[in-house]
Amino acid sequence: MKNGYERFIRPVLFSLDAETAHNFTIALLRSASYVDPALRALSSFQSAPKPKTVFGVNFPNPIGLGAGLDKNGVALPAWAAMGFGFIEIGTVTAKAQPGNPKPRIFRFPDQQALINRLGFNNDGAEAIASRLRRLRESRRWPGNCRVGINIGKSRVTPLTEATEDYLCSFRLLRDFADYIALNVSSPNTPGLRELQEPTALSQLLRAIRDENQISARPILVKIAPDLSATELEEVIAVCEKSEVAGIIATNTTLDHSSIPPARDQAGGLSGVPLREKSTAFVRSIFARSKIPVIASGGISDAKSAREKFEAGAQLLQIYTGYIYRGPRLLRDIMETVS
Ligand SMILES: Cc1cc2nc3c(=O)[nH]c(=O)nc-3n(C[C@H](O)[C@H](O)[C@H](O)COP(=O)(O)O)c2cc1C
Repeated sequence: MKNGYERFIRPVLFSLDAETAHNFTIALLRSASYVDPALRALSSFQSAPKPKTVFGVNFPNPIGLGAGLDKNGVALPAWAAMGFGFIEIGTVTAKAQPGNPKPRIFRFPDQQALINRLGFNNDGAEAIASRLRRLRESRRWPGNCRVGINIGKSRVTPLTEATEDYLCSFRLLRDFADYIALNVSSPNTPGLRELQEPTALSQLLRAIRDENQISARPILVKIAPDLSATELEEVIAVCEKSEVAGIIATNTTLDHSSIPPARDQAGGLSGVPLREKSTAFVRSIFARSKIPVIASGGISDAKSAREKFEAGAQLLQIYTGYIYRGPRLLRDIMETVS
């Protein structure tokens, strides 16, 4: 049976172009973040806390909002009110950038999937750091929710200078983050995925670790589901050696075999068709390493959430499932969390 969001709100949002619907929703949640009665209304979706400590961070519950939904960190109080245990903002880049030409988000309701080629449109690390500082000073910073910050490379920065670009965002944003996720897996920034190659990844992680001596933030790496088995093993080995706190598995995929060719679009595919692949990655990492895994990819109901935990995930993130199922999805999943 369809829930209230699916019956009444989704049809309105889906009558709009995907990015317009996204911007409209974010604008509403941004406004709600400054209005106490609105936050109280949103908190009617909340479930009882189910705290869990992972890589030294105490999460009020293990279900988070995936990166890319609130790229600029404009609606933290609203997401927290809706009951997320953590929110990953970003991807943030050192330089503000507009992203790729529109249209750049496409819905595939039959597959419960999305394809996006946004290309890290965001306000840039400096503006986002100022916004987060203002939020903290306004005392509206959500105390009942952890905040991860996902950083990536600015498009104009050559791959050979990527480390400096990540360091710049890291320095500006670390004070606001319960963890920092290094995004080396978006398919929409040319060359970015090459940073998963062992030498490049080791170099990036070493530089971040040197810079992180005092701040001591947990550093996570977000990986692509399109790595071969050997490449995945290499990434795990580098993460172990570099004492990475966690791996986020996975980002969107370039495998579009589930999409009818006539409707296909360039970009990263997310949602139900990604589910099995990303679960297999979680299982592989869990079998080879003690590094905690945050599972991301195709979580669309309680069953697919349980599958990720059973594969070895410590925490989950949802994105495309939330677009299709709305706030009820979080409640459904929370009911299965022990
Ligand atoms: C429209 C859109 C934008 C996204 N932007 C980002 C991003 O900026 N950084 C990132 O690491 N992942 C991004 N993602 C990937 C999601 O965080 C998530 O890893 C992926 O969609 C798989 O989860 P899902 O199937 O639950 O959506 C984006 C996904 C979508 C659909």
